[in-house]
Amino acid sequence: MNPNKELWEKGDFTEIAAFMRQSGEAFVTSLEITPALRVLDLGCGDGTTAVPLARAGAEVVGIDIAKNLVDAGNRRAAEAGLNRLKFQEGDACNLQGISTHSFDLTLSVFGAMFAPKPFDVAKEMVRVTKPGGRIVMGNWIPNDTTSFVSQLLKIGSSFMPPPPEGFVSPMTWGVDTHIIERFGWAGVPKEKISMVKDTYYFLSSDKSPAQFVELLRRFYGPTMNAFKAAEQSGREEELHRQLGELAKVQNQSRDGSTSIPATFLRVTVHL
Ligand SMILES: C[S@@+](CC[C@H](N)C(=O)[O-])C[C@H]1O[C@@H](n2cnc3c(N)ncnc32)[C@H](O)[C@@H]1O
Repeated sequence: MNPNKELWEKGDFTEIAAFMRQSGEAFVTSLEITPALRVLDLGCGDGTTAVPLARAGAEVVGIDIAKNLVDAGNRRAAEAGLNRLKFQEGDACNLQGISTHSFDLTLSVFGAMFAPKPFDVAKEMVRVTKPGGRIVMGNWIPNDTTSFVSQLLKIGSSFMPPPPEGFVSPMTWGVDTHIIERFGWAGVPKEKISMVKDTYYFLSSDKSPAQFVELLRRFYGPTMNAFKAAEQSGREEELHRQLGELAKVQNQSRDGSTSIPATFLRVTVHL
């Protein structure tokens, strides 16, 4: 089994994506979608951005490595009557079966950053996007205390054994020099790449930050793995305490609900 696929299929990201719908819609609005634009949403999950893209009139293909999320996305598309939206299984490292120059926009919001071969990912995103088209990525930023998910993953990693040799941290997609190097290798000069910090929000009107942490523990693959490792070393409670503290401190809501801002790097590549 591909460990990348296993990681994302073990949980159920739909439970976490429920906190991200509003920011997903805002992100799509900012992309100024015009009807009939052909869009690839890579690492699309169950459609946090793919569904609003299709609602805005785009022809959307959502590709994700996790079968359970592809199935959930296709159910959401059917329920919403969106026949210009299709989800399918695929790996961002190798988009075999996807024709060269077939999309006006290739989007990946916290998706392709998790694929293990970042140079192949950059090359594939460039290959499938039309000349004159654009690639837009949303990536968490390493060692940024306001980038909630990067902090969540950093805490989780500190409870786990070191990663295997050759492992490239997904967080490197949040660093300008790596981004320029990867797209440069794929043939894109750095003048064509722009990067700006932006904010996503994890929102729930009826769930507290503590309940959010429980959901991460039960359904978010990387946090599930961290708890498994922490259990084995008898440090489960300490991990729970640290994640609870992180969510509590970063929560901006004062009425018991959840509103956690998270800084990310928005990367736009014009081809
Ligand atoms: C943090 S979730 C984001 C999902 C979605 N973009 C959203 O904003 O709700 C990361 C997604 O990337 C997918 N993913 C991870 N590695 C991938 C790969 N190599 N190819 C395609 N998808 C991948 C996971 O299955 C998961 O759905």
